[in-house]
Amino acid sequence: MKLVIAIVRPEKLNEVLEALYRAEVTGLTISRVRGHGGETEQVETYRGMTVKVELHDKVRLEIGVSDSFVEPTVRAILSAAVTGEVGDGKIFVLPVEKVYRIRTGEEDRSAVTPVTTEESGV
Ligand SMILES: Nc1ncnc2c1ncn2[C@@H]1O[C@H](COP(=O)(O)OP(=O)(O)OP(=O)(O)O)[C@@H](O)[C@H]1O
Ligand SMILES: [Mg+2]
Repeated sequence: MKLVIAIVRPEKLNEVLEALYRAEVTGLTISRVRGHGGETEQVETYRGMTVKVELHDKVRLEIGVSDSFVEPTVRAILSAAVTGEVGDGKIFVLPVEKVYRIRTGEEDRSAVTPVTTEESGV
């Protein structure tokens, strides 16, 4: 299993969610975050040190997937989140040691595979 973490523009969230849905990627967690992407336009001084401060609102998606879903997940995000302008975001793919579905105690691949749509809750 892998954990795909994507930081995207908030205005691209709906497109990203639609693309993920089309790729049959269902379970995910979304947070509003603020981030810095390395740009250095704004400079402030803090205790005599020059600190670069430029935080932008972003959305962070966390998606736990089995290995075969990594590529479709990443492709969906890449194609839906891109504008071509600086600040489009990043995608990180992390190894996952264990996954448990709390309700059933299922582990690993079965724990990230969606149950039938009728019974799947959010
Ligand atoms: N190395 C990083 N680690 C963690 N989060 C990052 C990293 N780089 C970027 N981010 C997150 O992604 C957001 C968007 O970053 P951004 O798209 O500016 O990355 P970039 O590498 O500078 O690409 P670009 O050249 O397109 O600006 C940041 O605001 C931050 O939340
Ligand atoms: Mg940047």
